[in-house]
Amino acid sequence: MEKIQVHAYAKLNLALDVLSAMDNGYHALRMIMQSIALCDDIDIQVMPGDGTITASTNRNFLPCDERNIAVRAVKVFFEKAGIQDRDVKLTLKKRIPVCAGLGGGSSDGAAVLRGLNTLLKTGFSKEELEELGLLLGSDVPFCVAGGTVLAEGRGEILTPVTPIVPCYVVVCKPPFPVSTPELFAKVDSVPLKCRPNIDGMIAALEQDDLVSVSRLIYNVFEDVMSRGKTEILQIKGSLYDAGAIGASMSGTGSAVFGLFTKHEQAEQAYAFLKKQYAETYLTKTIPAISI
Ligand code: C5P
Repeated sequence: MEKIQVHAYAKLNLALDVLSAMDNGYHALRMIMQSIALCDDIDIQVMPGDGTITASTNRNFLPCDERNIAVRAVKVFFEKAGIQDRDVKLTLKKRIPVCAGLGGGSSDGAAVLRGLNTLLKTGFSKEELEELGLLLGSDVPFCVAGGTVLAEGRGEILTPVTPIVPCYVVVCKPPFPVSTPELFAKVDSVPLKCRPNIDGMIAALEQDDLVSVSRLIYNVFEDVMSRGKTEILQIKGSLYDAGAIGASMSGTGSAVFGLFTKHEQAEQAYAFLKKQYAETYLTKTIPAISI
């Protein structure tokens, strides 16, 4: 038996713009994505067999069959590598809140691709893993290596930008889910009042100007959402009250994050929000993984 443990890191959208609806049912996006240290741990065991994939997780509401993106990741990897004579057992220790806009599922899928590539010495390039990732979901290509990245198209056209100046991050997921397809439909039906200045953010990243980066944090979905908006604004208010230099909802939510330069202020925000919201985390930004 061969085995490996991989970490699947959560992502934030420091900026998220929806440019247009595309003919394929997806939307053209422009986003600045950022990896954070908050992660799921995935144990991958590979043994001789007939291609049976089994999975287990510490979140009993999550499916462990092909509805789980980590299981599908094994399938697409084995198809590309032409592997038919191995069984795989996945053990997922989830920490990243589910349905939160933090890319938890996408990151699990990407981590499985990375882990199998290392374990089985397949030698697929980062780009090949990203292509496989796109078969699993729009955010999976980013999650293959992560870091600080401009993501365009469906999310798969990736351009690394200057890595963010390391900072503390408080993430808080209120206990209501947001439907991603519903929010995309809403974006199509209402005119956007305000758009993020993504080029300005890229310039601020180039200058290592964390304060300007933080001021430019913006997510168009926050504007169009109706249900839960008050709670999102309250959490942002608590983050700013504690000293956050920027705060926003991530992706299609409902997780909210704040960036902090001072650990004690991040601690204070964490302690305050944790009393009200079980899924609150104090973490930090991380650089890209080299592949
Ligand atoms: O690619 P993924 O399965 O993560 O996308 C989930 C849903 O989000 C899609 O079915 C679509 O409704 C929406 N989406 C979109 N445009 C994107 C990414 C996602 O409309 N670029």
